[in-house]
Amino acid sequence: MIDARKILLRSGSHKAVQMRVVTAATWPKTLSQLPQAAQKWAEAQNFTGAAGSCLQVPNGEGALAEVIVGSNGGDGFKLAWLCRQLPPGIYAFQAANSESSRFAELAWCLEAYGFDRYKAQAKKFPRLVCGNHVDYEAVVRLANATCMVRDLINTPSNDFGPAELETAARKVASPHKAKLTVTSGEALKRGFPMIHDVGKASSRQPRLIDFTWGSTRAPKVTLVGKGVCFDTGGLDIKPASGMALMKKDMGGAANVLGLAQMIMDAKLPVRLRILIPAVENAINGEAFRPGDILKSRKGLTVEIGNTDAEGRLILGDALALADEEAPDLLIDMATLTGSARVALGPDLPPFYTNDERLAADLTRHAAEQRDHLWRMPLWEPYNTLFESSVADMNNSADSSFAGSITAALFLRRFVEKAKSYLHLDIYGWTPTAKPGFPKGGEAQGIRALFSLISERYKK
Ligand code: BES
Ligand code: ZN
Ligand code: ZN
Repeated sequence: MIDARKILLRSGSHKAVQMRVVTAATWPKTLSQLPQAAQKWAEAQNFTGAAGSCLQVPNGEGALAEVIVGSNGGDGFKLAWLCRQLPPGIYAFQAANSESSRFAELAWCLEAYGFDRYKAQAKKFPRLVCGNHVDYEAVVRLANATCMVRDLINTPSNDFGPAELETAARKVASPHKAKLTVTSGEALKRGFPMIHDVGKASSRQPRLIDFTWGSTRAPKVTLVGKGVCFDTGGLDIKPASGMALMKKDMGGAANVLGLAQMIMDAKLPVRLRILIPAVENAINGEAFRPGDILKSRKGLTVEIGNTDAEGRLILGDALALADEEAPDLLIDMATLTGSARVALGPDLPPFYTNDERLAADLTRHAAEQRDHLWRMPLWEPYNTLFESSVADMNNSADSSFAGSITAALFLRRFVEKAKSYLHLDIYGWTPTAKPGFPKGGEAQGIRALFSLISERYKK
């Protein structure tokens, strides 16, 4: 378990190596103010203040005296690369730089992440003293939730099935005394037939995890996360290339757990409910089949066009339950379609809602928090794409057109009473590392959503 408190230190009396941020333009002036020996050293290293370069300046004894960092401004995310470059030690950004780089602390913590559960030795990262202008607790909250989400996604499926997802949910719920229940076996089959049907071919029992926290009088915010612990595709089996990353198909569940942890930690004045349908989409003689017709919790019947479109089935039943108490805000997060990635790539998850104010607010929070999201439409005419001649609808459209939109429209059929409904089709994975975003499992949308929920339901 990663703890950002071990990487980010509260401002105070640490003996830290100062990091001075310069640009190519300001560098000559800084250079002229350095001691003679340091000037010679900078020249010998051919340091020019170019963005993305740094100069480690020794003192008279040969120890590290200070670090000069070349940058071209920005929000501070790019400074995260220092965390991977510098030797172990305690560092601090010089105050003058702080305002223009408000994300430097968060980005440093997000960069200082390694998934080392299966490694003989964990990588050690240099530590950073938090700037005075930065809310230490807020950064730690965001960083710890993000790293928990990454750990959950990165853990391979042999060590992470529905039971382990339940354990992870209990770990999030119990420190805050949230009330957790789990439905499985006969009760699942009766109450949540689609969750049962998708999960029944695995030796690891499918289940619905449900926990609530906060005052019953507070506004109801419900988060639903897709918890497919591995997605083989079922009988419509995926090719090897498509299956390779499917341990991450519980990315929606991981993200709602991360968001729940932040909301409870910050004690936001909401009645929070988390719903996670947890299954493995596996294959055996019991597996649900193409052509089967499932009866959902809501009563709607669904013809199975493709057993690989399993996420919308388990979410359909969980959303139906969520909707029964008419929550003020209902959000689901899911690694739902490959089509979302075709449209927007891995780093820009689409979101869907018909609540115009919510859409505008979320767009603003996503940009402000550097947690990028992009609105896509619940385009009504595409409802025809997943019609069925034998059931109320089909779980997969005939064509591959607008796959992320048709999946979103499918989910919305299960939501009627919620005052506001939002769906995020996330990827949950960083395929190529960027500063603050190492390769692997990724939290997406939860910093934006936390910011939005904090603003919407002020204390
Ligand atoms: N888990 C996948 C979606 C996915 C694939 C997300 C790759 C991220 C990366 C989902 O269960 C799935 O297989 N969806 C199908 C639906 C289709 C059969 C209608 C898809 O998107 O191709
Ligand atoms: Zn699938
Ligand atoms: Zn899936």
